[in-house]
Amino acid sequence: MRIVFLGPPGAGKGTQAALLSKKFSIPHVSSGDLLREAVTEKSAIGLKAKGYMDRGELVPDEIITRIIIDRISRGDAKTGFILDGFPRTERQAKTLDESLSKVSLSLDAVIYFETSKNVCVERLAGRRVCGKCGVNYHIKNMPPRKDGICDHCQGELYQRNDDKVDTIENRLTVYSQMTKPLIDYYKNGGLLKEVSGDLELEEAQRDLSDILREAQAA
Ligand code: AP5
Repeated sequence: MRIVFLGPPGAGKGTQAALLSKKFSIPHVSSGDLLREAVTEKSAIGLKAKGYMDRGELVPDEIITRIIIDRISRGDAKTGFILDGFPRTERQAKTLDESLSKVSLSLDAVIYFETSKNVCVERLAGRRVCGKCGVNYHIKNMPPRKDGICDHCQGELYQRNDDKVDTIENRLTVYSQMTKPLIDYYKNGGLLKEVSGDLELEEAQRDLSDILREAQAA
């Protein structure tokens, strides 16, 4: 089952993908996480990507596309994947289609998280991430048991550089200009399903699970 999660920053794509990848036993492939790993490792790609990410701009298509195509070609993605944060431009979407079709594969569904702007801003500004295991929290909606400390590994929580208010605004603008047109791209391809990103975690997860079960059965 090959699924894409599409939606604005803060829609809950990463949170839901992490839970559903366990439930459906397919890898969660997050373009943002892969780029942040490269930044932490200070690899050549990470050094190139960092500035774009800190400003809330998209990293160049050729960099991210190579990373994603490599990742979904690995053995654990043979039975499928949830792509979170990729594609984000029409060029990325076309390259993904072409590379899947070279191995006689295609996407099963693209799930669009329709989310209000104020919800996105509130979620991003309150997000905290574990520096050790990467789990996401929210200071109000999903607080850790102990302030600033991860429930799972006791790692310290930090705020992402791009979760500062000015950068959030820029990310939302970039999303509207560069990524939102993919809604029509996938609608025209007959792949688009829609959920509300404004819903509470469990409700949204129920709707997403239904769509994933349908895709699995098809
Ligand atoms: P990336 O890491 O992909 O960031 P994003 O798309 O901006 O997505 P987010 O992680 O911010 O939002 P999300 O929808 O996953 O929300 P989450 O579940 O975390 O990308 C970062 C940067 O990398 C980009 O700006 C760009 O520079 C670069 N990049 C990445 N991919 C690229 C690509 N394809 N092309 C070019 N550049 C690329 O939730 C947010 C918060 O809300 C959390 O605190 C969570 O706890 C909380 N929350 C989640 N769901 C709910 C809910 N239902 N109710 C209440 N709170 C909730």
